[in-house]
Amino acid sequence: MDCKAFVREQVEDIRRTVGDATVISALSGGVDSSVVTVLGHRALGNQMKTIFIDDGLMRQDEPKQVKAIFAKLGIRVSLLDEKKRFFDAFRGLTDPEEKRKAFRDTFYKVFGEAVRASGARFLLQGTIAPDILETKKGVKTQHNVLAQIGIDPRSGYGFGVVEPIKTLYKPDVRRVAKFLGLPPAIAQRMPFPGPGLSARCMGEVTPERIAIVRKACLIVEQEMKGSKAFQVFGVLLADRPTGITRDGRRREGDAVAIRCVDSEKAVLATPTRVSWAKLLRMRDRILQEIPSVTKVLYDLTPKPPSTIEYI
Ligand code: XMP
Repeated sequence: MDCKAFVREQVEDIRRTVGDATVISALSGGVDSSVVTVLGHRALGNQMKTIFIDDGLMRQDEPKQVKAIFAKLGIRVSLLDEKKRFFDAFRGLTDPEEKRKAFRDTFYKVFGEAVRASGARFLLQGTIAPDILETKKGVKTQHNVLAQIGIDPRSGYGFGVVEPIKTLYKPDVRRVAKFLGLPPAIAQRMPFPGPGLSARCMGEVTPERIAIVRKACLIVEQEMKGSKAFQVFGVLLADRPTGITRDGRRREGDAVAIRCVDSEKAVLATPTRVSWAKLLRMRDRILQEIPSVTKVLYDLTPKPPSTIEYI
């Protein structure tokens, strides 16, 4: 694809669509929302405000790191601490689709408020082609595709949505990111789901359970650093497998799965061939650093029939 032409067209299109209205960009730090934020900044400069919602479902130190990266690009990012509202919305929910809907509804409520408070009339979003495909096919409801699921964002939530990269797949988004001068930490960033660590937390989503997933993801990412895998992460399962203490007492604990997949466009995926030594090293660190764990598993399932994430 011709990055230069794509950027020029999208910048013009954003200007045409929003006119002189104020726009808000919903930055998450992933390559998708980062690209649309830079496109929006190019198109609109200070007419665009960039907000990073801390939903409590981010990886270790992610909000701080993203803010610092964009500060270097001259783009000011406002952090909104909305952790409590997301965790409140998840309370008592265990069904995957209900969890997704709770996330999506909270996401739009929070952004709707931020938009209204700022006077913005448009929300810039990093929806990409597979999000739309899978939502249309009814595989799962991506939190960021409203029009495609029959909700008119203007009537339901009070603002319009601009989706400049909705025709692209990941490899092209990365090309555009590089072309726009985003650093490798963003351009080559692993995909991370919109609903964050909640997509890796089976059963109820609570601050305590998310803290476990966050540690597991950090360990897996650190140990797999430099690998060619498309995505690597840890997952907290809902089961409470029986374990045994050193002095022989029975106890129930947490089950953590390690998920590493090779993929090109996230439409198909196969499990990464991780060396036995590396698997054992991840197991040791998970058991040591997350003492509640009584089972560590390696997920061997391809997509299909599985998906990459767990909900
Ligand atoms: P799945 O799990 O459907 O994910 O195989 C495909 C790719 O999309 C990333 N991703 C999401 N997945 N909900 C998801 O389930 C989302 O909102 C979302 N956003 C991004 C996922 O990490 C994988 O790379």
